Amino acid sequence: MATTLAPVLSAFWDADRSWALETYEANGGYRGLRRALEMQAPDVVTMVKESGLRGRGGAGFPTGMKWGFLPAPDGGPRYLVVNADESEPGTCKDIPLMMASPQHLIEGVIITSYAIGCHHAFIYVRGEVLHVYRRLLKAVEEARAAGYVGTDILGSGYDLEITVHAGAGAYICGEETALLDSLEGLRGQPRLKPPFPAVAGLYARPTVVNNVESIASVPGIVVGGADWFKSMGTERSTGHGLFSLSGHVTNPGQYEAPLGITLRELLDMAGGMRGGRALKFWTPGGSSTPIFTAEHLDVPLDYESVGAAGSMLGTRALQIFDETTSVVRAVTRWTEFYKHESCGKCTPCREGTFWLAQVLQRIERGQGTPADIDLLLDLCDNILGRAFCALGDGATSPITSAVQYFREEFEAGCHTPADVLFPPERSALF
Ligand code: NAI
Repeated sequence: MATTLAPVLSAFWDADRSWALETYEANGGYRGLRRALEMQAPDVVTMVKESGLRGRGGAGFPTGMKWGFLPAPDGGPRYLVVNADESEPGTCKDIPLMMASPQHLIEGVIITSYAIGCHHAFIYVRGEVLHVYRRLLKAVEEARAAGYVGTDILGSGYDLEITVHAGAGAYICGEETALLDSLEGLRGQPRLKPPFPAVAGLYARPTVVNNVESIASVPGIVVGGADWFKSMGTERSTGHGLFSLSGHVTNPGQYEAPLGITLRELLDMAGGMRGGRALKFWTPGGSSTPIFTAEHLDVPLDYESVGAAGSMLGTRALQIFDETTSVVRAVTRWTEFYKHESCGKCTPCREGTFWLAQVLQRIERGQGTPADIDLLLDLCDNILGRAFCALGDGATSPITSAVQYFREEFEAGCHTPADVLFPPERSALF
């Protein structure tokens, strides 16, 4: 498999005023929309299905198939909602994409909306990134002035409004149904699925929720065709993706590459490990995916291979940690994040993440008891598969995998006899 490609999404990120509509058009922008508007809407859906594009928000669900789940039109509205609430620790691809080339996303939104018969699309952007919110507002206005948004788009008779909405800064609102509640003005907490948003989403209407990078990939597929997209990546993980390298690498940043590239190849592109140190552990797809070690440097970063090796491709957020890093400390920081961001709706996640953080903090301080590692694993076991949404499951992944690979580091923090930490007179109080 070729490990390099001519950049698609990041092709002109370094250009002067890369975010401007004129730059986008000068680089072939809006050719996809013109082509899509000449096609029948269902043919656009078929093309995206045939391309094999899988959701770039982390779960990897086939994008065209998701669009195909919308029920037949009943005369009422149907919506496209772009999930731009990127917040997973280590995940940092959508925000640079929207800053550097917002028209990529806007064109994708228009094509997708046309394909699924939607006349009002929403972009829900993470509340903390005010600069992205402003850039998107400006980009939508530029697109409107050029006749790409509004009524009778490019004389096609097709109408579309786009609303950019800033959240208030809650990780849980990246969960698609919590996002929809938040967009409706409610407190963002996940809804029970099914029904999936495709059937009952925003305002209980059929809704497609897609990640920024998924939607931004659509114009390229329409211009290049399904076969062009499938010529990159692997048989079941097709196309290009943004790989975000952070941590102890020489040149952290975004690297666009075909799915199936390995960390070893990406590290070569990123100038290797910082200071020439040895790799200790890394996340293939953000902190909610089980960690990998140096043993996994040659695992192809596609959905199947990463899954077979015991983790998940997730958001391709490769957080790299060298030999100087305490795995206990890294896992404790991630767990504190999940504890803070747990929405509180379900007990396993709300209580479980609190206790995980308590136990990890005492191990980190060197005050763990010999029973604490089993206690951690038991807590994880009681959260995994029992929480209301993926947040709880995600919180357990770094812990169980870190104990699997680095148990001795956890043991090193567990030497306080239980009767010292919990003297009988204190225990009697509970
Ligand atoms: P999921 O697998 O439950 O769903 C994926 C998508 O497919 C959703 O849009 C869902 O509505 C749709 N879907 C699945 N089955 C369907 C059906 N039978 N009918 C109609 N639609 C269906 O995964 P979920 O919970 O949406 O996302 C979990 C992933 O999110 C994790 O793997 C993680 O990598 C990622 N994540 C990303 C973050 C970020 O900042 N980008 C933050 C946290 C997690």
